[in-house]
Amino acid sequence: MKKILFAASEAVPFIKTGGLADVVGSLPKCFDKDEYDVRVIIPKYMCIKSELASQMVYKTHFYMDIAWNNQYVGVFEMEYEGVVFYFIDNEYYFNGDKPYGDTKWDIEKFVFFSKAVLSVLPVIGFKPDIIHCHDWQTGMIPVYLKERFHEGEFFRDIKSIMTIHNLKFQGVWDVKTVKNITGLSSYYFTPDKLEAYKDANLLKGGIVYADLVTTVSDTYAQEIKMPFYGEGLDGLMNARSNCLSGIVNGIDYDLYNPLTDTCIAANYDVSTFRKNKIKNKRALQKELGLEVNDKKFMIGIVSRLTSQKGLDLIECVMEEICTDDVQLVVLGTGEAKYENLFRHYDWKYNDRVSANIYYSEELSHRIYASCDAFLMPSLFEPCGLSQLMSLRYGTVPIVRETGGLKDTVIPYNEYESTGTGFSFCNYNAHEMLDTIRYAKHVYYNKKREWNKLIDRGMAQDFSWGFSAKKYQELYERL
Ligand code: ADP
Ligand code: GLC
Repeated sequence: MKKILFAASEAVPFIKTGGLADVVGSLPKCFDKDEYDVRVIIPKYMCIKSELASQMVYKTHFYMDIAWNNQYVGVFEMEYEGVVFYFIDNEYYFNGDKPYGDTKWDIEKFVFFSKAVLSVLPVIGFKPDIIHCHDWQTGMIPVYLKERFHEGEFFRDIKSIMTIHNLKFQGVWDVKTVKNITGLSSYYFTPDKLEAYKDANLLKGGIVYADLVTTVSDTYAQEIKMPFYGEGLDGLMNARSNCLSGIVNGIDYDLYNPLTDTCIAANYDVSTFRKNKIKNKRALQKELGLEVNDKKFMIGIVSRLTSQKGLDLIECVMEEICTDDVQLVVLGTGEAKYENLFRHYDWKYNDRVSANIYYSEELSHRIYASCDAFLMPSLFEPCGLSQLMSLRYGTVPIVRETGGLKDTVIPYNEYESTGTGFSFCNYNAHEMLDTIRYAKHVYYNKKREWNKLIDRGMAQDFSWGFSAKKYQELYERL
């Protein structure tokens, strides 16, 4: 039996700010249970809902040196859907109403977390064969593992994998500060190790020191070797390319299932969507105060409102999108300029645009179920889960061909009647607008073709089965 420990800063159902949480929360239960014991460790944030926090069981605590201080490390445990989760408790670091905030403080917080992850293992008597680290917040784990903790018998043969969910976020601060926080000597802060462009870079540390590096789609694994997508680390990605692979994400097919979803107005599957999906659209139009009209082409957006998601393109042609014969439903939070953009158009075209500037798991399900199309014109997209959720709910994705969007959405070909969505290549607002208009044309004028697009989309399988096997193959390689 191979033992694997997932270390990350978020996991559903405990804490989520984006797709990372979906992956860390849903992938572990999809491994072959006879061969793999996969557990997860995350911080015990004080903002985790009390229904969940109250079910966590205190295991032990001890004190650990960090940033010239001696800090409390509590360990809690809870089994959820057959997976053991550990939680690192420390109210000095994990307070507040969200997991992230000020960058410098976040760096100290997650260096603490990374060191604590390794320190708790002998105490709780769990020795993983592999620690599977996710994103910059856990970048110090492979570093500490190879160097600091290497001397101890317990840690010597533990391997590590670093999975990059988003290369944009690297955990960067000046060398002096990071040296103080980590307690590492100058030896580590050179350009072949933790230093990048004169600063200390935690993700770089993870990538340099991990035994294998993965990212969340094949195309993104190729893209990040180029300057445009490499976020300054393309040289490093090339240097590590023999250890780098892309494994596309899946989604939790039980949680995202239009046949059993309790958040939506009417359940359906691939054989009943023609009759029942429309009931969701009517209900959502009513709920959000849009014109109740079966025929209106309804486009959904569920997204963090940041430039990564291609919102500049939308901003550029928002007026054209709105004056076309469409309804637009937006759910998201993020940068003020995008929040205000959607609020403004909601005010201007009240019966056509609905801006919901907050976070709601339930409403997101209703949008995936109700809309005709889902718009995701990302500038870059390591994988993207929203387009997979849309496909699952028979909502046709309109995407830019980048990263995981390129790997998961097959462009519609009207001559061969193939494809599962619509896509465009260049980061260009009018290319996007043309693609939206083309989709709308098929929707209004070729309803049978449109429904066949849905048929094909819903027949795709983006549950975790296939990708979990790929991770298993990687684990075996180590
Ligand atoms: P990213 O991780 O870059 O934000 P993904 O597409 O991988 O993008 O995952 C986004 C996840 O977050 C999806 O599960 C999506 O439904 C969810 N999400 C994003 N914004 C909101 C919101 N405002 N309310 C509810 N869910 C949201
Ligand atoms: C990141 C990426 C997103 C990916 C998610 C889960 O947040 O932005 O594309 O789907 O991680 O891997």
